Amino acid sequence: MTKNDLFLRAARGESVERTPVWLMRQAGRILPEYRALRGQLSGFKELVETPALASEVTIQPVDALDVDAAIIFSDILVVPDAMGLPYEMVEARGPLFPNVIKTAADVDRLSIPDPEDKLGYVLEALRITKKALNGRVPLIGFAGAPWTLLAYMVEGHGSKTFSKARGLLYTDPKLAHALLAKITATTIAYLQAQVAAGAQVVQVFDSWAGTLPPAHYREFSSRYISEICEALAPLVPVTVFAKGAWFAVEDFAAMPCRTIGLDWTEDPAAVRRAAPGKTLQGNLDPCALYGTPEQVRDATEAMLRQFAGGPHIANLGHGVYPDTNPERVKVFVQTVKGFRG
Ligand code: CP3
Repeated sequence: MTKNDLFLRAARGESVERTPVWLMRQAGRILPEYRALRGQLSGFKELVETPALASEVTIQPVDALDVDAAIIFSDILVVPDAMGLPYEMVEARGPLFPNVIKTAADVDRLSIPDPEDKLGYVLEALRITKKALNGRVPLIGFAGAPWTLLAYMVEGHGSKTFSKARGLLYTDPKLAHALLAKITATTIAYLQAQVAAGAQVVQVFDSWAGTLPPAHYREFSSRYISEICEALAPLVPVTVFAKGAWFAVEDFAAMPCRTIGLDWTEDPAAVRRAAPGKTLQGNLDPCALYGTPEQVRDATEAMLRQFAGGPHIANLGHGVYPDTNPERVKVFVQTVKGFRG
């Protein structure tokens, strides 16, 4: 089998024959084969915690969509779960934490677990997947950024404002730092274990970055992401995707991450200027995939042209929306593959 290492080379900043492409949330509800498997199970957690099944859905988009990378099927919320704060995934609603973090005693009760002990199911899924892929495409590992995990652990569920979590940064910054430090230590050990289990690139998702004012972002988020990058960069290329954090691009430019992920509101040319030498990843608006095949092609080519002048990994600006037609995703992927800028 010919090995496709385009994504890995672009993630290292090496030159490539064409732009590699994958999609955040490519493994999931857009694929009928995912929904079929998921429908036979008790819930999302069963899928995440059964390595053979997690591996199967990791590879589904590689077969169905012809993407240049696989991302391990899991969730960012497995980390709080492993630390002693369990989550539930409520059908059609999203994540829910029955208990939340309110006091210093709550933080003290959390552990910094041994990843093999508490997250062995993810590591086993990585090992099985790496073997099954046999070099077909590179395998991406991931974790949530400490701030985004804190947001769920304090709030208990998704929120438009994350006002409880943001409020904590004003009312009890000491407690917030104690929690962030514990999450960071857990995440570093977890990502190192993912690399040992076969992850060739790791991505840190800071989905709620854009909810913070720049000074708070620096104090409560980017410094912890920087610690994670410093620990992982000697092992594998690291990607930071911080949604809405256009104001922090200079911080990311100064970190040992190799790739910066852009959401669809960011200007690729401006990020290139602010972060010379980095690989950029993104950033088609997921809504562009609601268009006709011709509209998807045009929007994708316009996006690709904006990234000229440096290494690029094509992706959406956030996860693909569940009501997206997989046929349009294929048009996106094939347009990238056929593009010669
Ligand atoms: O294909 C992939 O990208 C890998 C799998 C993956 C999932 N979650 C699977 C999933 C990844 C990388 C994540 C990351 C994740 N999880 C993030 C960061 C990225 C982002 O989108 O901002 C966040 C914030 C979460 C937390 C989470 N998990 C939420 C808010 C939800 C509910 C909303 C939703 O999208 O359904 C989930 C559930 C979830 N995680 C699903 C999948 C496929 C849907 C669950 C189902 O099958 O019903």
